[in-house]
Amino acid sequence: MPSMAFLSLSHPYVSAVLCAALTLLIAKEVLRNLKKRNGKKYHPVAGTVFNQMLNFNRMHHYMTHLAAKYRTYRLLNPFRYEVYTAEPCNVEYILKTNFQNYGKGLYNYNNLKDLLGDGIFTVDGEKWREQRKISSHEFSTKMLRDYSISIFRKNAAKLANIVSEAATSNNTLEIQDLLLRSTMDSIFQVVCGTELDSMFGSNQEGKIFSDAFDTSSALTLYRYVDVFWKIKKFLNIGSEAKLRKTTKILNEFVFKLINTRIQQMDISKEGFESKRGDILSRFLQVKGYDSTYLRDIILNFVIAGKDTTAATLSWFMYMLCKYPAIQEKAAEEVKEATSTNKISSYTDFVSSVTDEALEKMNYLHAAITETLRLYPAVPVDAKICFSDDTLPDGYSVKNGDMVSYQPYAMGRMKFIWGDDAEDFRPERWLDENGTFKPESPFKFTAFQAGPRICLGKEFAYRQMKIFSAVLLGCFRFELKDEEKNVTYKTMINLHIDGGLEIKAFHRFRD
Ligand code: HEM
Ligand SMILES: *[C@@H]1O[C@H](CO)[C@@H](O)[C@H](O)[C@H]1NC(C)=O
Ligand SMILES: *[C@@H]1O[C@H](CO)[C@@H](O)[C@H](O)[C@H]1NC(C)=O
Ligand SMILES: *[C@@H]1O[C@H](CO)[C@@H](O)[C@H](O)[C@H]1NC(C)=O
Repeated sequence: MPSMAFLSLSHPYVSAVLCAALTLLIAKEVLRNLKKRNGKKYHPVAGTVFNQMLNFNRMHHYMTHLAAKYRTYRLLNPFRYEVYTAEPCNVEYILKTNFQNYGKGLYNYNNLKDLLGDGIFTVDGEKWREQRKISSHEFSTKMLRDYSISIFRKNAAKLANIVSEAATSNNTLEIQDLLLRSTMDSIFQVVCGTELDSMFGSNQEGKIFSDAFDTSSALTLYRYVDVFWKIKKFLNIGSEAKLRKTTKILNEFVFKLINTRIQQMDISKEGFESKRGDILSRFLQVKGYDSTYLRDIILNFVIAGKDTTAATLSWFMYMLCKYPAIQEKAAEEVKEATSTNKISSYTDFVSSVTDEALEKMNYLHAAITETLRLYPAVPVDAKICFSDDTLPDGYSVKNGDMVSYQPYAMGRMKFIWGDDAEDFRPERWLDENGTFKPESPFKFTAFQAGPRICLGKEFAYRQMKIFSAVLLGCFRFELKDEEKNVTYKTMINLHIDGGLEIKAFHRFRD
């Protein structure tokens, strides 16, 4: 998932290296222009990586501005050409039509492999295909579906209890942090079959694991901005020394978990394993006892499922507070679909959020989708081009170029969504009968598209709908401070900078 080459100006050595590289960069551009003889043309240069650095805190605003102006453009970077597109036909081409020519490449693999190994996020080709095949099968089974729903329900009820306490005592809540912990607990249990409880921190080892996990992802991401990470790794100093330490903690925790599970399976050879719904047990059955392979599966799925859903739910809460009429409408739909008149216990309410009830919640589905259109959890997604090619818009790209599509910018393009592109309007996703109406995945790119479309899309919607149905059904929300500017933090996933402080009020209670 991490894919962007952001550089921070705060590092003097980085600026020095980059200044020297600027000359190289101009020379390369001149060379490329000279080669135009062969009739190829390249996308307009809209800026350099320096402009990106200067706009670091408002990165996606900057790139949205450029996308509106050029649709597809290049930014000059001393190390590689970077092409950014918001053009649906180009997106369809790189993600589907010529899928095999655009992938993670060695660049992403090298950055990610210490944390994510040969997991589904880091590899291309046959290695990817095999994991994709087994995982898609497992994700579509009724067993995983039922197991995950039971976990979402349990964690949604836990969350509701915490929100309820705050509502009763008039305390404000930092909802993003709560959601992050709650989705971590959910995905961890779905993947590993055991409780982490980062919500209450009752499990000391679990807390160490989830801290090490967050630190390792942040340090892995840092490699994308640190031109010297390989030297630091070799010398085992600074951020790389720390990363080595935290991945060691992660590995010990995960290998212990795997070994315990293998022992349990050996003891109860038959029957036992086939009853377990978690992903680890399923892979153990299908692939046998390859600990490294299983470690990679666990870490990749946890990283995929944790921050994305929490970030989306946080922006959703923000939108609901900004637009109280939409909040009321969604709450009304939840009330109707679950036939709730009075809430006596959250556990009871949660069990009224059945599959059938969720199916009826078209408005909620539309409102979550509208949130993802404007605040996609993965705002920019980069691929590496494997051989010279020409995109459908007529411009060319070269072997080694980084080619990115931009869900954040695309969600705000008037040429895709019309003049009200920047407005939050769930109705745009509903047909005349109020039924959800999907859009082309090459326009709405929050989940990627093509053969590598997000594998957890349905899973994520189910989780997000259960969580938000429980929150909306039981509470009304307001921002703690209407005046406070809410914006994103520039990193791989689109989080709310500094979290989201809200006030909760009980609904439908005596
Ligand atoms: C709102 C929630 C989510 C969003 C917006 C989202 C978005 C994405 C995106 C943009 C990608 C492509 C990343 C890349 O270039 O490698 C992706 C891939 C993936 N996602 Fe999600 N995701 C979400 C939730 C989940 C959840 C909950 C799971 C699992 C439980 C999951 C599992 C995966 C997997 C396994 C892949 C890799 C697919 C492949 O490479 O074949 N995602 N997702
Ligand atoms: C919370 O606020 C309400 C209304 O402002 C007030 O009536 C109530 O006593 C407060 N409760 C607590 C525990 O402070
Ligand atoms: C809406 O419902 C009517 C009556 O059931 C049906 O004829 C029509 O095709 C529906 N419209 C859409 C867009 O599905
Ligand atoms: C919020 O942002 C606006 C414009 O970007 C600025 O004028 C205002 O002072 C900011 N408010 C706060 C509380 O920071």
